[in-house]
Amino acid sequence: MAATRVAVLGASGLAESLVLEGLRGRDVEAVAISRSLGVDVGDLEALSRALAGADVVVDALNHQTLSARAAVRFFESAASQVVAAVEGSQPRVVCLSIINAANPRVHRWLGYYRGKAAQEDVYRRSGLPLSMVRTTQWFELPEALLRQTRVGGTAFVPGILSRPLAVAEAAEHLVEQALAPEAAEVTEICGPEQVDLARLAQQVNAQDHLVPRVVRIPLGMTALGSGALIPRSPTVITTTTPQQWLARRTPRPPSSAPL
Ligand SMILES: NC(=O)c1ccc[n+]([C@@H]2O[C@H](COP(=O)([O-])OP(=O)(O)OC[C@H]3O[C@@H](n4cnc5c(N)ncnc54)[C@H](OP(=O)(O)O)[C@@H]3O)[C@@H](O)[C@H]2O)c1
Repeated sequence: MAATRVAVLGASGLAESLVLEGLRGRDVEAVAISRSLGVDVGDLEALSRALAGADVVVDALNHQTLSARAAVRFFESAASQVVAAVEGSQPRVVCLSIINAANPRVHRWLGYYRGKAAQEDVYRRSGLPLSMVRTTQWFELPEALLRQTRVGGTAFVPGILSRPLAVAEAAEHLVEQALAPEAAEVTEICGPEQVDLARLAQQVNAQDHLVPRVVRIPLGMTALGSGALIPRSPTVITTTTPQQWLARRTPRPPSSAPL
C-alpha cells in the first residue's frame, strides 16, 4: 500500500517545522510547502501541483498582522486557494487554529483572530473532511510580543489571560491528528495552568534581557484579559507547566534576537 501523502502548509514555520520532524520516520510521504520552499499559496497552479495526491493537508500558514482586514484577506484567500487546488479529490484538512478566536466577543479585540475565524469558516463550508485542531496561545508567543510591542526601550505587552502550552506539544497533536485513521472533527488543546502572558513575557525577558523594561497593559475589561480565550472543556490538557518550560528553555543572548 502507498504511504500516506501529507502536505504540510507553512512548512518553514514554527509549528509546521516541528510537524515535519514528527512525520519523519513514519510511513508517510511529506510534502513541505511554503514560499521559501518554492510554492506561494496565491499561485493556484503551483499549489495544485504541490497538493496533487495528498491524503491529508495540514494548514499552519500564518500572516502576522494586527489588522483585521489584512488577516481576513490572507486566511480567507489562502484557505480558498487550498480548497480550489484540491478540487476533485477529498483530502482531509487538518487546520491549526486558536481556541475561541472565532468568538466575536474575542475577535473584536484582536483583528488577527478575525482572520482565523474566516479561515475556519472557509474550511467548514468547503465540504472537505476536516479536523480542526485549536490550541491556546503558545509559551513562545510572549517572546514575539516583546519584539512586536517594543517602543524604544520598553515593550508594552498585553495582559492576555491564557492556559498556554509549548508549540512542540501542539505539533505532536497535529501529527497525531494528521495520521489518525479516525480523526476528531474538533480537538481543543490547552496547557495545565492559567497565566497572564504579560507576566510570562516579563519572566522571559528576565532570562533574555531583550528589552530594558516590560510594561503590562491591563486587559481585564476585555474578553482577552478576562478568560474568554480559555476553553471550558478542553479535549487535551498538556503537561508542561510555564515554570517547567521556563526552566528548560535556552535563554537567547540578546545579540541573537535583534529587536
Ligand atoms: N502563536 C500561537 O500562540 C498560536 C496558537 C494557536 C494557533 N496558532 C496558529 O498556528 C499557525 C502557525 O503559526 P506559526 O507561528 O507556526 O507560523 P509562522 O512561524 O509564522 O510560519 C508561517 C508559515 O506560513 C508560510 N507562509 C506564509 N505566507 C505564505 C504564502 N503566501 N504561501 C506559502 N506559504 C506561506 C511561511 O513560509 P514563507 O514565509 O516561506 O512563505 C511559514 O512557513 C497560525 O495559523 C497561527 O494562527 C498560533
